[in-house]
Amino acid sequence: MTNEAIPNLTAFDEAALDRAFASLEAQARADAPALEAELFRLKWLGRKQGLLNDVSGQWLKAAPPEAKKAVGQRFKVLKELVDGLLEGASGAGPTDAALRAEAIDITLPGTRRLTGAEHPIVRTMNEIVSVFSALGYSVGVGPEVETDYYNFESMNFPPGHPARDTQDTLVVASQERRASRDRLLLRTHTSPVQMRTMEQQPPPVRIVIPGKVHRNDAADATHSPIFHQVEGLCVDRNITFSDLKGTLDHAMKALFGSAVKTRFFPSFFPFTEPSADVQISCIFCGGKGCRKCKQSGWIELLGCGMVDPAVFAFAAEKQPAYDPKKISGFAFGMGVERIAMMKYGISEIGSFFAGDMRFLNQFV
Ligand code: PHE
Repeated sequence: MTNEAIPNLTAFDEAALDRAFASLEAQARADAPALEAELFRLKWLGRKQGLLNDVSGQWLKAAPPEAKKAVGQRFKVLKELVDGLLEGASGAGPTDAALRAEAIDITLPGTRRLTGAEHPIVRTMNEIVSVFSALGYSVGVGPEVETDYYNFESMNFPPGHPARDTQDTLVVASQERRASRDRLLLRTHTSPVQMRTMEQQPPPVRIVIPGKVHRNDAADATHSPIFHQVEGLCVDRNITFSDLKGTLDHAMKALFGSAVKTRFFPSFFPFTEPSADVQISCIFCGGKGCRKCKQSGWIELLGCGMVDPAVFAFAAEKQPAYDPKKISGFAFGMGVERIAMMKYGISEIGSFFAGDMRFLNQFV
């Protein structure tokens, strides 16, 4: 495109200048909507052939000294107008052709991306944790590779004590040179985190501890050498067995429905005294008796008890406030797989770990 040139200016009085600039302004206003932004820019602001270049080259140059200021002021106003028009033109959005090139067919199916989902064990663990969070419990975790001291000794299983045999332990090799309390093993339960928590903070404590545990058990329909537990610990002044019963009865109703009943049977754990096993009324037959509950109407679900004073004595080595004369507490531990199997009607614990997508997709 060749630019039409600007007319020659012969008179430099105010009226003549006004007329000359007004006609350029009108031209610019007409060009802006008619030309594409780049063409408009070239025509008006182009370095060599732009009209504004002509104005400063011809009009301003030709002006007698006393008129230079008047020409310069008008030039400035015109330049601002052109800049403004160009900004408006390029901000006006893409052309029709550009829009057509970018158009997408919104009737085509989209690209499917697989979203991850919580594994049923993690989901169940979170559900259990949230029941206790709602009661004001905080959440803690601890290491899976644990010392003999935390897993056993401080939980009141002395070295050589037969209660250790109830939890067939996987130990880390070549630890013989270490003192027995420092030897490493894969934790057999989440209870060591009770002690780790008490060493970190004085009472009161209300904490739940979800986590993975390991036992050298042969795998079968209901046993796996790796499984998960949620531990609970509550320590304060005047905590009683009825607090324990009320808390766990509430938790079981929250997890399995308000019709569920609980009952407590005497049991033994070295770190609780007295200890109990908690049974819930069979969620499959409502307590009438069926194959799942071996016709008893009850299903055993978790272990619990009042924290043994011997455990507080270990905690008091680091935190003297764990004085069994002043405080008391309860603890409980439940198997996550067992609860998930009951909730979802799963009969093989191995299904959780086989990685079969047909199984896992049911929980998406
Ligand atoms: N740690 C016990 C187990 O794994 C369960 C338990 C926890 C029992 C807390 C009582 C109190 O068998």
